[in-house]
Amino acid sequence: MRKRIGILSGGGDCPGINAVIRAVAKKAMLEMDAEIIGIEDGYEGLVNNKYRHLELSELSGILTLGGTILGTSKKANPYRYAIHQGDNLIFKDLSRRCLDNIEKMELDCLVCIGGDGTLSIAYKLFTDGVPVIGVPKTIDNDILGTDITFGFDSAVWIATEGIDRLHTTAQSHHRVMIVEVMGHNAGWLSLHSGVAGGGDIILIPEIPYDIDIVAQKVKDRNRRGKRFSIIVVAEGAKAKGGDIVIRRIVKESSDPIRLGGIGFVLGQALENATKVETRTVVMGHLQRGGSPTPYDRVLATQLGTKAVDMIKKRQFGHMVGVQRNEFIKVSLKEVSKGVRKIPLDNPLIASARSLDTSFGDKVKRSTSPFRS
Ligand code: F6P
Repeated sequence: MRKRIGILSGGGDCPGINAVIRAVAKKAMLEMDAEIIGIEDGYEGLVNNKYRHLELSELSGILTLGGTILGTSKKANPYRYAIHQGDNLIFKDLSRRCLDNIEKMELDCLVCIGGDGTLSIAYKLFTDGVPVIGVPKTIDNDILGTDITFGFDSAVWIATEGIDRLHTTAQSHHRVMIVEVMGHNAGWLSLHSGVAGGGDIILIPEIPYDIDIVAQKVKDRNRRGKRFSIIVVAEGAKAKGGDIVIRRIVKESSDPIRLGGIGFVLGQALENATKVETRTVVMGHLQRGGSPTPYDRVLATQLGTKAVDMIKKRQFGHMVGVQRNEFIKVSLKEVSKGVRKIPLDNPLIASARSLDTSFGDKVKRSTSPFRS
């Protein structure tokens, strides 16, 4: 009997998903003579039995393609599935229906490509008896158990390109330009694009900022003749004693809060405090679009092929992760315990601080050991 491998992508899309689908499907076809079942729109397809057989022809030309050929959903959670009843929204556990559909599809295993939400659901399916393998996907780079997720590098590139372009207009107009970057409750994307783009101030969720310190930094720069400043702010950042800024609530979603708008809040407060003209740009979903970078294509290909190795070894209930440049298997139980934030002793924060980048907090400058 030929093995049947199901594959789905859940949560927000990002560059590189198709590269993973291609890698899993091609390797499994070539080395296991497996049949590949593409489940459409993430867990939505499992609940409503929407799937198709993937043939080699459909895998051709998708390595470089952004988005996902299978579609995705950020709302469908089989264990808490939202149903509209008139004006009311009710939630039902439809996991039994999913398990039946998986049986009807005659799947020998299921590859779930996703972020923390998708992989936590994958873990539940595993505990309900489904042989599952996870692949870490997100521009946020916040999945526990792996140092890197595919999609992150592409998003860093896009955000950096945005920051680069804002430098010239900031300089010409002697303005403060604020760039709001995605990343959910973690600051990885802001930290990396902020450092790569030479941001003067980088504000991340892990370090609540003091508006007076941010304003002072802008004023100090102006005094030194640097009549513009670039601020990179994570969508999840907040002022000391303040709150995150919520853009919308998606009631159907298990993680209903959508962040966004801190850039405008910060811009107003800063303009009031410094009297320097300030503009805000929100990078938004641009960061999730387009073709994956070469790094992400390579990473996605490796994660996909390693996932097939794990299927062959029957290492179900695990995600393929990367730790210290090695591919490893991580238990989905560990992955589903939360999200990975930036530790405060992160070396990139230290490097940025040593170049006088402000994180909006008070820091003691270390004195040179070479000076007496
Ligand atoms: O998790 C990926 C991500 O792009 C986050 O960075 C962001 O907070 C969120 O998804 C946006 O969600 P949506 O696509 O529902 O607006």
